Amino acid sequence: MKKAIITGITGQDGAYLARLLFDQGYEILGLVRNNANPGNKNKLKWMFNGYIPERIKFEYSDMMDATSMHRAVDNFGPDEVYNLAAQSHVGVSFKSPGSTAHINALGVLNILEACRNAGKMPKFYQASTSEMFGKVQEVPQCESTYFYPRSPYGVAKLFGYWLTVNYRESYGLFGCNGILFNHESPVRGEEFVTRKITKGVARIANGKQDCIELGNLDARRDWGHARDYVEAMYLMLQQPKAKDYVISSGIQTSVRKFCEMAFEAADLPIIWRGSGIDEVGYCPRLEEIVVRINPEYYRPAEVDMLLGDASAAQVDLDWQPRTTLNQLVEEMVAHDLRQEWDATTC
Ligand code: NAP
Ligand code: GDD
Repeated sequence: MKKAIITGITGQDGAYLARLLFDQGYEILGLVRNNANPGNKNKLKWMFNGYIPERIKFEYSDMMDATSMHRAVDNFGPDEVYNLAAQSHVGVSFKSPGSTAHINALGVLNILEACRNAGKMPKFYQASTSEMFGKVQEVPQCESTYFYPRSPYGVAKLFGYWLTVNYRESYGLFGCNGILFNHESPVRGEEFVTRKITKGVARIANGKQDCIELGNLDARRDWGHARDYVEAMYLMLQQPKAKDYVISSGIQTSVRKFCEMAFEAADLPIIWRGSGIDEVGYCPRLEEIVVRINPEYYRPAEVDMLLGDASAAQVDLDWQPRTTLNQLVEEMVAHDLRQEWDATTC
């Protein structure tokens, strides 16, 4: 039976990847920084219809604690390590750059060292990101596009990216960077813009919230479904040769358009009025303003647009996204409507 360690197993991608590897017959060790709080396993529980199977075990380990990483890798002896743990919020990284650097940069060093010194060197996946392209130097972005990160998050992730390349070249580690563009799901963190919107739409539809406050509506992202994107992580580690891959949908959509799609999915279409920070989204059916701008959500430096070219992954990994943005939005809105409805009726 193959064995995998997943750091960040309590996050969105951790939950989807655990499901995928479990279905492939893996024994899984999830590294968690807070084993005492059962609430942080909710995403995983959701993924397994309410219970966590025996074949998934947990070990306490913080990315900033090298000793705990060494112990976990040595004791478990994994075939594969998926490093998904991170302070993953770009906006937060401006407010907390120090801890972001510790977790997202030095944390990668800690886990790579644990892998390098293990009796049997496991294959290694690093959760790299399209945020490393930041102020994009070409459109679309592919594996050879120059990096220009625009946030402490992106800068720290670039360290992890190069360190993975370096361990591959220096020590023969089978290490791959997945340069993943934005991917979402019903278990996306509620502080990210897509889930903030779908959750807000559901709450407005249930009369629990008046309005969603957002920042930059004009930012454009290349959004896909987390379920599709974790497949690419797994496929990278099954190849004969370790390489880095861009994983994206190849379609770009603005935050404004995502908002329109989410309200439409709840049968509450909106129209835009005004401009700049006075712009509002108005819902004729509710006769209410349901979206407002709050400059608090602007970032000191913005990534205006991202658009990926995943053709290398399509050729080498036979990977392409299965879920359209429209299907993703409908799934997220339906999930959040149900959750709000259940919370009201329970
Ligand atoms: P997420 O939902 O925010 O999950 C982050 C995970 O990291 C959580 O399990 C969190 O644990 C854990 N973590 C945070 N700080 C830690 C620490 N100091 N020690 C140990 N664990 C820690 O993120 P995600 O969306 O699943 O993303 C997974 C990875 O892919 C991240 O590295 C992210 O930067 C990267 N990525 C994401 C996207 C995307 O669009 N989702 C795109 C490109 C790259 P707690 O539960 O304790 O908070
Ligand atoms: N979070 C948030 N909240 N973003 C907002 C808001 C708001 O109220 N209003 C507008 N936005 C804009 C942000 O300024 C950004 O341009 C865009 O919406 C997307 O923001 P997020 O959903 O927070 O995602 P992100 O693109 O910054 O980062 C995500 O994707 C990266 C891959 O490109 C995260 O998952 C990162 O971990 C990941 O690496």
